[in-house]
Amino acid sequence: MSEHAPQISNELVDCEARGAEWLHEVRCEDCLGCSVESTVMRADLERFVVDVLARYHVKEDEAAVTAKVLVAADLRGIASHGVARLGRYVKGLQEKYIVPGVAFDIREPVPAVGAIDAKNGIGQVVSDLAMDLAIDKARANGIGVVTVKNSNHFGIAGYYVQKAIDAGMIGICLTNAAPLVVPTHGADAILGTNPIAVGAPGAGGLDFLLDMATSVVPRGKLEVYDRNRKQMPVGWAVDEHGYDSKNPGLVLANLVKRAGGGILPLGGRGEEFSGHKGYGLSLMVDVLCGVLSGSAFGPEVDNLQREPRPGEVVAPRVGHFFLAIDITRFMPVQEFRERLTELIGLLKDSEKALDRPTIYIHGEKEQVRARLHERSGIPLAENVMASLRKIAADCGLPGPVTVAERVRREAIHPEEGYRAS
Ligand SMILES: NC(=O)c1ccc[n+]([C@@H]2O[C@H](COP(=O)([O-])OP(=O)(O)OC[C@H]3O[C@@H](n4cnc5c(N)ncnc54)[C@H](O)[C@@H]3O)[C@@H](O)[C@H]2O)c1
Repeated sequence: MSEHAPQISNELVDCEARGAEWLHEVRCEDCLGCSVESTVMRADLERFVVDVLARYHVKEDEAAVTAKVLVAADLRGIASHGVARLGRYVKGLQEKYIVPGVAFDIREPVPAVGAIDAKNGIGQVVSDLAMDLAIDKARANGIGVVTVKNSNHFGIAGYYVQKAIDAGMIGICLTNAAPLVVPTHGADAILGTNPIAVGAPGAGGLDFLLDMATSVVPRGKLEVYDRNRKQMPVGWAVDEHGYDSKNPGLVLANLVKRAGGGILPLGGRGEEFSGHKGYGLSLMVDVLCGVLSGSAFGPEVDNLQREPRPGEVVAPRVGHFFLAIDITRFMPVQEFRERLTELIGLLKDSEKALDRPTIYIHGEKEQVRARLHERSGIPLAENVMASLRKIAADCGLPGPVTVAERVRREAIHPEEGYRAS
């Protein structure tokens, strides 16, 4: 078995022999030719997550939503925010800063606005509800805005925007997050990787869905470099003095200890490549998610080391922001789809760089991967499978059923069928 933990690359490459329709995934350069990975059907993976969460007293309906959002990340190839994080949710449930089954407090001061106190409930559950509320409000009022305070990590922001797209609307979703990002000219991580997701319905199976962190790279990327003992490129992160660092281990250790330094905002260090603009986007997210919602902001997000006030359980107090716009108040949805598709066509048909065969639209790679993985199963790196098997063993469950396992079972018990239920 190879020594390193295989990583499934986020890149899609065109298969030269068959044209752009045949996109397939490539491994990271260390993993080329490495086959240490398992494949699990979406439904089997969701079932596994629901079963694990049930062991920690999460009811079926809440567990199903949480599983759907987590597995949606893996389905789209965003492995950093999928079931690889299940252990962190289990920890939150065990340590009681994630509270399942809590009744959210929902205020609706005017018809288009909602303000929810999640009361430390499951981030995915309150966020699913908040986007549904924003969509209902948009349907009734043209626009719907909902903030959420006192929540937990909610997974990928794009999941909630896809709900607005599926309702024929434009959607925006933001969240603040644990402080990992250093402001321009600074040396301390004050802001999170604070993602922005914005999307709109297209046609022919292609929607616009930009879903991105406002940092140069996510923390997970530093972890991969650290595990593989590789130096980072200059421009990803700084040390405790605010100087460029190529040492992922040092930056990660500093972040854990909150000892200074951290990841850089989009655009990198200083102003030369517009780091100040990435910093501004991250700050905008915290203004809407932390300040406006009444939740924690800046370094107070996810600050579990904080001294509790009397009677208080120290919790991450993450804040989110959801917005839905009803397109029909501007033009028929079909006309909007056609206009957006025309714009997409102009981009995709424009002249390509010499070494690049395809111009992508934001969300396209994820949509293609989701279709691929829905049919053939979700590839999970061996370290992720190992962590899932450990989580399962800790609560007396079998690990996720792999496609290989299903095929084996099918050979022995053909009456059971191959496909996941
Ligand atoms: N909950 C949290 O606290 C939190 C924090 C940070 C990030 N996240 C999530 O992490 C995920 C990954 O974020 P990321 O910034 O690493 O994403 P990324 O860099 O992989 O992709 C960002 C966006 O760029 C698009 N894209 C990629 N290549 C493209 C190309 N060549 N042309 C056009 N578009 C292209 C993608 O479709 C995506 O919309 C997101 O889903 C985000 O919501 C969550």
